[in-house]
Amino acid sequence: MKNMLLCLTLLLVMLFLLVSNDDAQGHRNSAMNLECASCHLEGPPAKIIIKGIPAKFQPGKAYQVTVEVVAKLKSLSESKGGFAVQASAGTLKVKDEKRTQILGDYLTHTPEGNKVRKWTFLWIAPTVEEEAIITVMGVAANGDYAPCGDAVAADAVVSKKAMDKSKK
Ligand code: HEC
Repeated sequence: MKNMLLCLTLLLVMLFLLVSNDDAQGHRNSAMNLECASCHLEGPPAKIIIKGIPAKFQPGKAYQVTVEVVAKLKSLSESKGGFAVQASAGTLKVKDEKRTQILGDYLTHTPEGNKVRKWTFLWIAPTVEEEAIITVMGVAANGDYAPCGDAVAADAVVSKKAMDKSKK
């Protein structure tokens, strides 16, 4: 009950922010930042599965990555989920233009991508840096178009530059 109140208060604060700021709108068309959990509260457990980032990367090579938010939570509408990913090094690149897009320094879902809980994109490994951290946050939505009761999860993977065998 206490949580419910907190959630409602948050919702009111956010509605106020939405009204007072023309730029901020509902964001089924993308994620607004990486900190999903700062607004999405009180949901059931969820897990992020990141596939395709190697433990050791080859500089400049493109890796196809999939991210999935896994939760038992069923969605009541076509709004099923969303995510945002950021890479500390290397470049994120759109592969599935229908469901993903670049926004500032992260990659996130599009309106079409809001209808699924699994997304694919490319990560081009860095040529200078020795290490990259890929951070993902995702929401499995309950489909009520509100930030309450959704399942939120975060995860990160570290990838290190593979040893250059030619330089022995
Ligand atoms: C500043 C607050 C805020 C942050 C940060 C935020 N959200 Fe939301 N989110 C909202 C609000 C408000 C709504 C309801 C309005 C809407 O659907 O656009 C919402 C709705 C959603 C929905 C639809 C929910 C449903 O049940 O239908 C998804 C999916 C979603 N957000 C994903 C994300 C993801 C993924 C992140 C982080 C990468 C994120 N959000 C970060 C405030 C936030």
